[in-house]
Amino acid sequence: MKPIQVGLLGIGTVGSGTFNVLQRNQEEIQRRAGRGIEITMVADLDVARAQSIVGPDVKVVNDARQVIANPEIDIVIELIGGYGIAKALVLEAIAAGKHVVTANKALLAVHGTEIFAAASAKGVMVAFEAAVAGGIPIIKALREGLTANRIQWIAGIINGTTNFILSEMRDKGLDFDVVLKEAQRLGYAEADPTFDIEGVDAAHKATLMSAIAFGIPVQFDKAYVEGITKLGAADIRYAEQLGYRIKLLGITKRTAHGVELRVHPSLVPAKRLIANVEGAMNAVVVHGDAVGTTLYYGKGAGSEPTASAVIADLVDITRLHTADPLNRVPHLAFQPDAMSDVAVLPMSEVVTSYYLRLRVADEAGVLAQVTGLLAGAGVSIDAVLQREADEVGGEGATSTDLIILTHDTREGTMNDVIAQMQGLPSVLAPITRIRKEELN
Ligand code: HSE
Repeated sequence: MKPIQVGLLGIGTVGSGTFNVLQRNQEEIQRRAGRGIEITMVADLDVARAQSIVGPDVKVVNDARQVIANPEIDIVIELIGGYGIAKALVLEAIAAGKHVVTANKALLAVHGTEIFAAASAKGVMVAFEAAVAGGIPIIKALREGLTANRIQWIAGIINGTTNFILSEMRDKGLDFDVVLKEAQRLGYAEADPTFDIEGVDAAHKATLMSAIAFGIPVQFDKAYVEGITKLGAADIRYAEQLGYRIKLLGITKRTAHGVELRVHPSLVPAKRLIANVEGAMNAVVVHGDAVGTTLYYGKGAGSEPTASAVIADLVDITRLHTADPLNRVPHLAFQPDAMSDVAVLPMSEVVTSYYLRLRVADEAGVLAQVTGLLAGAGVSIDAVLQREADEVGGEGATSTDLIILTHDTREGTMNDVIAQMQGLPSVLAPITRIRKEELN
């Protein structure tokens, strides 16, 4: 049978990896897919560089619309990124009856509802395994492997840049700014790292996992997003002394009142496997009612790891494109007419536990005042750590750090009590609050 023909929009790191892996493993991929899969056309602004990657047999153009307009092309891979031209091209490809494979988490997290609706109306597939955790087949796992389960929660290290920075901060005892510069020098962080370090990239991915896990629309605008820029080496050290590591987690959870969807730094018990995921690696923990806790680990970025996910989608589409659209796996795991409208909870309604660090005057009664406010708000304390003032501020220091771990508390309650504690004259600096996830 004639190979299925693929058009590639954008041949950067992931695109060239996709081309190379498809070529290298074509015989095995064909045995799996039941049919050859060939990239026959590429659009890239740098035509000469693109042509040097794919060789003379592949047609290279600088206008993506020529790929979309080509009637021979069955599948379009979008690897341009961003919301602008990528959105227009994906919608045009769908309108032209092409199946689409994309790694564009930002596009789907923000415009997924429109894009999936357009694809369903046209009877084409939009596949996006590469959009979440790179080479880890987490979309496949959530959408198919765990389909028997009522998924209860997901917690993932889904941004390699920030995990690399946090690992270096812990290993070397350095502050965020120093490690970010080093990460940029080594190519682990982009020149403009905003989306990574502010948690936005992780929130895009968490949004997609949340939709698939709970059968709700993609709702990036409802996600709570907090990055790692304010974390200090001191907090990482104190967390370690208390038996925890600090990780940037993307969390989504089913509760009696709605769905939690949040990205923020979290203390995780050092004994959990996910707490030991270091460097640029990714990992996702999924808890289902039948299966219990499962863990998926691997490279979340990079040329061939991401290509691995893109090609898995190409194989899926090749196997299924002749199937009745109603018999395919739904884009968001649940049938479009069976989606739930359960609300994403505001952060003030989230219930979790907390690490608090207070710089306090080292004098009588301070601990009692602080714990008194917590008791008054009904917040139960799990552990308290106070260092000697000399150890924190040097000989003769008159202030010290007071670290408190709490039991589960509603975030709104914690906000109120932090504001009250901040008003105490003996609290000398802004209070640091980091959420804590036991993941058990
Ligand atoms: N920038 C991402 C990361 C990879 O650092 O994990 C692509 O989403």
